[in-house]
Amino acid sequence: MKYKYLSAVEAASYIENDMNVGFSGFTPAGCPKAIAPELAKMAIEEHKAGRPFKIGVFTGASTGDSIDGVLTRADAIKFRAPYITNNDFRKAVNEGKIAYEDIHLSEMAQEIRYGVMGNIDVAIVEACRVTDDGKIYLTAAGGIVPTICRLSKMIIIELNAYHGENLIGMHDNYELLDPPHRREIPVYAPSDRIGELFVTVDPKKIVGIVETNLPDEARVFTQPDPVTDRIGQYVSDFLADELKKGTVPSSFLPIQSGVGNIANALLGALGRNPNIPPFRMYTEVLQDTVMNLMREGRIIFGSTCSLTLTNNCLQEMYKDIDFFRDKIIIRQSEISNNPGIVRRLGVITINTAIEVDIYGNVNSTHISGTKMMNGIGGSGDFTRNAYISIFTCPSVAKDGKISSIVPMVTHHDHSEHSVDIVVTEQGVADLRGKSPKQRAELIINNCAHPSYKELLRDYQKISNQQCHIPHCLEKTFAMHTAFARQGDMHLTDFSL
Ligand code: COA
Repeated sequence: MKYKYLSAVEAASYIENDMNVGFSGFTPAGCPKAIAPELAKMAIEEHKAGRPFKIGVFTGASTGDSIDGVLTRADAIKFRAPYITNNDFRKAVNEGKIAYEDIHLSEMAQEIRYGVMGNIDVAIVEACRVTDDGKIYLTAAGGIVPTICRLSKMIIIELNAYHGENLIGMHDNYELLDPPHRREIPVYAPSDRIGELFVTVDPKKIVGIVETNLPDEARVFTQPDPVTDRIGQYVSDFLADELKKGTVPSSFLPIQSGVGNIANALLGALGRNPNIPPFRMYTEVLQDTVMNLMREGRIIFGSTCSLTLTNNCLQEMYKDIDFFRDKIIIRQSEISNNPGIVRRLGVITINTAIEVDIYGNVNSTHISGTKMMNGIGGSGDFTRNAYISIFTCPSVAKDGKISSIVPMVTHHDHSEHSVDIVVTEQGVADLRGKSPKQRAELIINNCAHPSYKELLRDYQKISNQQCHIPHCLEKTFAMHTAFARQGDMHLTDFSL
């Protein structure tokens, strides 16, 4: 191969203070894992010598510890977008140490192209094959790779032997043109291919290749429990009922399912429901449950931006790669999450809320309205454009001391205008075709935890009913302030 082979240390030395670095990957899947730890060591040395060293980090979504974790601990990030899941990064953001912008994942590549985030100096891309004429074959995610490679001044490849060449053939790489030249995106079914198996770059920009053999850093899920099982059962029964009523076509519609433990458990319930036909997914992440359901023939096809699988699950998939290869497409996030395609395909979206208010507004991102959890991810891309948008969450958090159903959300990610269905382990509130007052009745009666129902009804009583959305602004956040004061949202009385 004509490219220079570099050690991770040599590769890191191309990156200077204040540069913007674009990384491949989407969730820990497909992220480079060798260079950023060396960059972190460099930053620590620079800081010791009294020199500044911080970079901008631009990714498809969250990354693993070997990007967000190591760079945060080295105090080496000046700006970062979009979604995150790393604990150290979260802590640093919430302490005001890192500038972080939480944008919709479908918009990340185009925001970079529109020039609002500064120039990309270096793209670091994990690949399983690179050709002399600049064809890069990606690993477990599509992310924003074509954009960061095209716009960056230099490209460094981490050639990761861990994946072998198993994923060649699964990718569909495609970069959108920007307005006024953008055209319709010809995806009419989850399995439609529109792009290339590789990302083509100017080979002159590839400054070197770092050889690695490193597994992805996917999180292990907690086992489903009675609460997540009940939520899953309610969602799947609800969808089976919609099919029976004919509000969902009998062939069913593609499913998007969010990230995290609840989403993983919920898909299992959907897959087990005999009244739901085998279905397709048009989504941004495929988690472990999907692979099992594919083997069982319950999921026929998955269009995704990443294979966010535990390493066990990924290796099992590789053993059966011929079975999976024509059942999965890995796309860029601006296609997997594209609002126009979601609307066209009639995707049924299922995402997790942190809190939901009695009128159906959803907070997905900020604990108590102030502390960043993970970010909006793709939940906004999908929810706003869904055929049916569903939000799930346990009715309480932190051993019942927090109600997930509140008078008003403390941070607003998805508005009542976009949220169709709310599901907790208590039941289902179908908000479609309902006024705000009717919604409040449904959400309190069907979704709130029994220990908070009376309190929420008391809130309704003190709210001004002579308006469209009744509230008592003085007391709107009384449950939250009670939690802040006494560690429990159980107020005895709203007058307190
Ligand atoms: N107040 C305070 N803490 C709360 C809370 C609330 N109302 N609701 C949940 N939490 C806490 C939980 O207690 C838990 O804390 P812990 O980690 O200390 O145990 C944590 O939030 C995560 O909750 P969990 O029940 O484990 O849910 P999850 O793993 O399914 O994640 C989200 C839930 C909302 C954080 C996650 O789905 C997310 O980041 N969503 C936004 C992005 C998105 O939807 N992307 C999908 C598009 S494809």
